Amino acid sequence: MKLSNRVQALAESATLAVTAKAAAMKAQGIDVLSFGAGEPDFDTPQNVKDAAIAAITGGKTKYAKPAHGIPEAKAAVCTKLKRENGLDYEPSQVIVTAGGKMACALAIQALIDDGDEVIIPVPYWVSYPEMVKLAGGVPVYIEGNDKNDFKITPEQLASAITPKTRMLIFNSPSNPGGFTYSPDEVKALAAVTAGKDLVVLSDEIYDRLLYGDQKFISFAACSPQAYAQTLTVNGGSKTYSMTGWRIGYVAGDAAIIKAMAKLQSQSTSGACTFVQHGLAEALTGSQDTVVKMRAAFEERATRIHARLNAMPGVTCNRPTGAFYVFPNVSGAYAKLGVKGSVEFAAKVLEEAKVAVVPGIAFGSDDHVRFSFACSMEQIDAGLDRVAKLLG
Ligand SMILES: Cc1ncc(COP(=O)(O)O)c(C=O)c1O
Repeated sequence: MKLSNRVQALAESATLAVTAKAAAMKAQGIDVLSFGAGEPDFDTPQNVKDAAIAAITGGKTKYAKPAHGIPEAKAAVCTKLKRENGLDYEPSQVIVTAGGKMACALAIQALIDDGDEVIIPVPYWVSYPEMVKLAGGVPVYIEGNDKNDFKITPEQLASAITPKTRMLIFNSPSNPGGFTYSPDEVKALAAVTAGKDLVVLSDEIYDRLLYGDQKFISFAACSPQAYAQTLTVNGGSKTYSMTGWRIGYVAGDAAIIKAMAKLQSQSTSGACTFVQHGLAEALTGSQDTVVKMRAAFEERATRIHARLNAMPGVTCNRPTGAFYVFPNVSGAYAKLGVKGSVEFAAKVLEEAKVAVVPGIAFGSDDHVRFSFACSMEQIDAGLDRVAKLLG
């Protein structure tokens, strides 16, 4: 049986592959410590669970109507975007999706044709290039430099834009980099995109997970032009630890949102109805658990950053957002007798029984990604093992 060319050309998600391998080793009784997961280790807040349970009990178990999002969820998204991001959106400018991943996929499918160029800063979230290629688009990479916290400059952006450019994918705070652009840095990039015939897909799924004195600005909040050309993506997964609920959303130009809704109506029929009630509560109810989770992540960020930097052959930037560090481990390759990040990650898994994701999956073979969405005890135990191996 022949598989489609499209699916044959598609790479498997490296992050899901690493977590699956670590889980399989654990199932064989091997004591693996996994730093692969892209999901908070906290439970979903009780008020969110209660809202979804009440929705189920109250019979909200049919198709979501309309398929692009129930009014309660859309209203909650508008409230959140106004309260936290200073953005005014009408419900007609919002679509609720089955996760942030689906949100990005729908936006790319709605906007990208064969040969269209999509600018993707490196390192990038694994799914962006594959989604672009699936739509027939051409990823155009801008290399970030870890000496500059991987952030692209306005000059780099300006020189990457061609008449074929249709989209910039922007992700701050970053997966896998753990870095965050300052408001001035985002405004400088928005000044470059202003007036260009392109859409900015601004993936802001980690916007509440900021460390130190880091400030956040939504791309759409930079200027009226930025507002007009930006699709703001977010969701419940990271802020409210709702990864398994599959719930995300996008806000932006009503005509693009309508096109995405058409695609959604012919594919998933939208996000689960009672999950949307959970999202509405997450966005409008108590934010106490978000505050607690963020504080715990910040402590872990400080610890993992300090410990990695103390290891021979490793340099690590301080995480200012999300729950990842992306250390440069290339200085340890010779000692371990490995050639790149895939071999490095395999060696660390085999010998230290620690799972990390090879940086090549995110566009850089000198790095690996550690998620610190795990307990402090695990961070210490895992880093003891890695330190011993590199020692
Ligand atoms: C940058 C980024 N965007 C989007 C997502 C999608 O999350 P979900 O589909 O669970 O909402 C993730 C999850 O790992 C992510 O890291």
